[in-house]
Amino acid sequence: MRISTEEAVRLLISGQVVALPTETVYGLAASLECSAAIDAIFQLKGRPANNPLIIHTSSIDAIIPFLGKLPSGFRALAEAFWPGPMTLVLPVKVAMIPVKVRANLPTAAFRIPQHPLVRRVLELTGPLVMPSANLSGKPSATAPEHVETDFGDFFPILDGGACKCGLESTILIYQDDRWKIIRQGSLAAEIFAPVLGVKPDIDLPQSENPLCPGQLYRHYAPNAKLKLVREFLPEMRGVVIGYAERMYPGAGQVIVLGSLSSPEGVAENLYRILRHLDQESIQEVWVDIDVPNEGLWKTILERLFKAAKEK
Ligand code: TXA
Ligand code: MG
Repeated sequence: MRISTEEAVRLLISGQVVALPTETVYGLAASLECSAAIDAIFQLKGRPANNPLIIHTSSIDAIIPFLGKLPSGFRALAEAFWPGPMTLVLPVKVAMIPVKVRANLPTAAFRIPQHPLVRRVLELTGPLVMPSANLSGKPSATAPEHVETDFGDFFPILDGGACKCGLESTILIYQDDRWKIIRQGSLAAEIFAPVLGVKPDIDLPQSENPLCPGQLYRHYAPNAKLKLVREFLPEMRGVVIGYAERMYPGAGQVIVLGSLSSPEGVAENLYRILRHLDQESIQEVWVDIDVPNEGLWKTILERLFKAAKEK
């Protein structure tokens, strides 16, 4: 059910959950003040309680009161990349943030999104927690139709069109005197180098206790089996997900992810195409992963590897 900005604000203030557009993916929003609505988010998504939520605000000033010691470089990052697809995990005054929002950690994640509609809503509601608007494990929603697929036609959605980034925000944490990326996202690691002086490391979760709890879980996965290949052989028949510039001689059907010259375009299309596989009940598909392992391609590859993991 598509609703107006005013209606979204009214519902959020009255303690309901609403889907909102952001430039990365759609979010399931609840007021930070409404404990029951926050519970409802975990329930709706089927989200484990040990996976904390991102707090979204409309300004840096709205974040400061929650924070403990400001890590070095916080201001520089915030001023360079907010509003935008960056999330920072910061030490907080724990009494100010519900335990379930931060999964009992001494930190919380913050983001100031860029999409004009969500910014307008945030100005009127105050801080909102907002995980991606998908059932846990499924690809994030990058259009209002995706939210309807997961939560039904009557779920209240503020329609902001298709998301322009198409992949979640990049999450950074300050640890051991440096910033590191704990979830790759719409901003490539290279982009932070001019602000931080170095390209931040990407923390690859190896332990059962990753810095980013969400990395524990299966993600971004359609029902279809994805078979990732760097080299196409003519015997690879059936459905192929590939690039506009390439030929796939054996393919029965080619689904074009975008152009090799535009990882941004590919990122924008990726989840829509993964969701399309389920809609068409496609069982298995070859995916061309012969792309550079750098920049935004690195995030795209990571999402494809996760989506291809055995169920
Ligand atoms: O682009 C985005 O970030 C979207 C839009 C809606 O803003 N939101 C999003 O939220 O992707 P979600 O809940 O799907 O992913 C949030 C990730 C999870 O992997 C979670 O574990 C991590 O952020 N996270 C949240 N709080 C954290 C904390 N205190 N420490 C480490 N990781 C945290
Ligand atoms: Mg998510």
